[in-house]
Amino acid sequence: MSEWLRIAAVDEIPEGTGKEFVAGGRIVAVYHVGGEFQALDGICPHSGGPLGEGKLNGPIVTCPWHGWQFDVTTGRHCLNAKLTQPRFAVKVEGSDIWVEI
Ligand code: FES
Repeated sequence: MSEWLRIAAVDEIPEGTGKEFVAGGRIVAVYHVGGEFQALDGICPHSGGPLGEGKLNGPIVTCPWHGWQFDVTTGRHCLNAKLTQPRFAVKVEGSDIWVEI
């Protein structure tokens, strides 16, 4: 059963950046893109790299370990259409970001 967890304050994640969090026993990568927040499973499926530490270029995050790229708004891998990184629902209430884990 999932639950909503407060994960960060809005101002902890400036536009165009991402950050890694631990919540509900999961590693969660939260990104601020186009005025909205997106959350992915923070563990890269290639070899466990930290997706929350990847650089963003628009909605595309690049894993810092070996360069796999994902669209953070869909979770889709940029080259392999069969590969989709799990996403978490996100909501903003006041100045807080909540993620459904
Ligand atoms: S661990 Fe992410 S690209 Fe290799």
